[in-house]
Amino acid sequence: MFKKEKTILCIGAGYVGGPTMAVIADKCPEYKVIVADINQERIDGWNSETLPIYEPGLESVVKRARGKNLFFTSDVFAAIKEASIIFVSVNTPTKTFGEGAGKAANLQYWEATARSIVEHSEDDKIVIEKSTLPVRTAEAMHRILQSNDKGLNFDVISNPEFMAEGTAIDDLNTPDRVLIGAMEDESGQIALQRIVDLYSCWVPKERIKTTNVWSSELSKLVANAMLAQRISSINSISAICEKTDANIVDVSEAIGLDSRIGAKFLKAGVGFGGSCFQKDILNLTYLCEYYNLPEVAKYWESVVDINNYQESRFVKRMIRKMFNTVAGKKVTLFGFAFKADTGDTREAPAKYISKMLLEEHAQLAISDPEALENAAKDLDGIEGDYELIKCPYEAAKGAHAIAIITEWNEFKDYDYKKIFDSMEKPAFIFDGRNILDHKKLYEIGFNVYPLGQQALSHLE
Ligand code: NAD
Ligand code: UDX
Repeated sequence: MFKKEKTILCIGAGYVGGPTMAVIADKCPEYKVIVADINQERIDGWNSETLPIYEPGLESVVKRARGKNLFFTSDVFAAIKEASIIFVSVNTPTKTFGEGAGKAANLQYWEATARSIVEHSEDDKIVIEKSTLPVRTAEAMHRILQSNDKGLNFDVISNPEFMAEGTAIDDLNTPDRVLIGAMEDESGQIALQRIVDLYSCWVPKERIKTTNVWSSELSKLVANAMLAQRISSINSISAICEKTDANIVDVSEAIGLDSRIGAKFLKAGVGFGGSCFQKDILNLTYLCEYYNLPEVAKYWESVVDINNYQESRFVKRMIRKMFNTVAGKKVTLFGFAFKADTGDTREAPAKYISKMLLEEHAQLAISDPEALENAAKDLDGIEGDYELIKCPYEAAKGAHAIAIITEWNEFKDYDYKKIFDSMEKPAFIFDGRNILDHKKLYEIGFNVYPLGQQALSHLE
């Protein structure tokens, strides 16, 4: 039997809720962890042999804890009654309608959970914002929760999640830090200690950072904005490299060796994707506008502008190099996921690159180790000639060009001589992630266009 105060619920069984709670259950056997979602299909997936998301290492963690102290259910209301600590990890996408459309966070799913918690609670609870939310959301959440007429007390805690997809399990097992923000009153501080105790099961004390709620909420948005800003900064420099024959890989390494700058998140590419970076920066710019800070808003918005520029710049370079037309030509994309080691395609650069190439009447063949199911949904209804082919050799047969869109390791190991022999000539390869051996490809006969580097071309 688990104690009531050690019964945790997470509302939202997505990319964050599932892995995060699986690791908590795995690390803290004395806690009962319930993950609830209104999406029955997702819950069935979590209870099956084929988990609903692909994430290295996730399956073994889930299998170790599931049925012991980790449970997945679609009965959200019963789970609310049972738990004393409730994480809310529902989606908070960019608003597509009304005031703030295209920038502000859509808080409808988050507010619906707050109202369900009020309605179905029979005792006091700690409610934790796990979703990424605009700063000061906890204020609204606290108001909704405290408006109950049952005399119940709810403490609202901010505990944003910093895991990245593809490395989620490592990130959760050994986090750089766990951030917990609480209200400064006595009840808030008691709640804070309970959450610190939970993480202390496996996270060293010095890695648990506590703040007030507002700093915690804002830090999450800023962390993502700063990471994305580094990528846009290096991507903007990749454009200068292509004009000057400087090499972006060398420039990146040279500046990264400065310990004040650091080497991480300086890989130039086709642009950042994923469900978080763009959404969170746009949310930050919206907040800046709301607080009448237009200069700050403009600064952060330019990070997204450069990202859009990088995606279209990549396609325009392809077209230019392929004699100014891709119409009727087969172009093969290696990679559709927004990054390696995930099947997630949310805001993937591949989506925008595919659309642009299809508008130019290219015939697309798309190959990806994990993301073709999501790619099919993303491209459904889009006009143009495209096919999704798992086998890279099949996908590249008869193609005029290959474009590397995702940095999957296995792309490095393909037999490019075999691929070259099966392609139309002249054969082009555009390495949007700089992961291949460019010299070797050139020697095979390819015209090679790495990103932010001099071309290795038999034509120029
Ligand atoms: P997701 O879309 O994968 O999962 C959200 C889940 O919430 C869905 O399964 C949905 O059915 C469920 N849901 C929505 N409304 C509900 C309700 N009323 N009751 C029960 N379930 C409900 O989203 P995600 O990627 O897990 O992201 C969740 C939050 O975490 C977002 O705020 C995101 O910004 C943040 N975040 C995401 C990542 C990431 O890598 N994906 C990392 C850090 C933070
Ligand atoms: C990000 C944050 O890293 C994580 O802390 C937060 O919790 C959620 O958002 P995620 O989007 O899963 O995680 O992946 P991340 O590794 O940050 O990559 C985001 C995008 O940036 C990918 O498209 C990736 O390919 C790209 N990227 C990353 C680069 O183009 N260059 C880099 O140097 C690093």
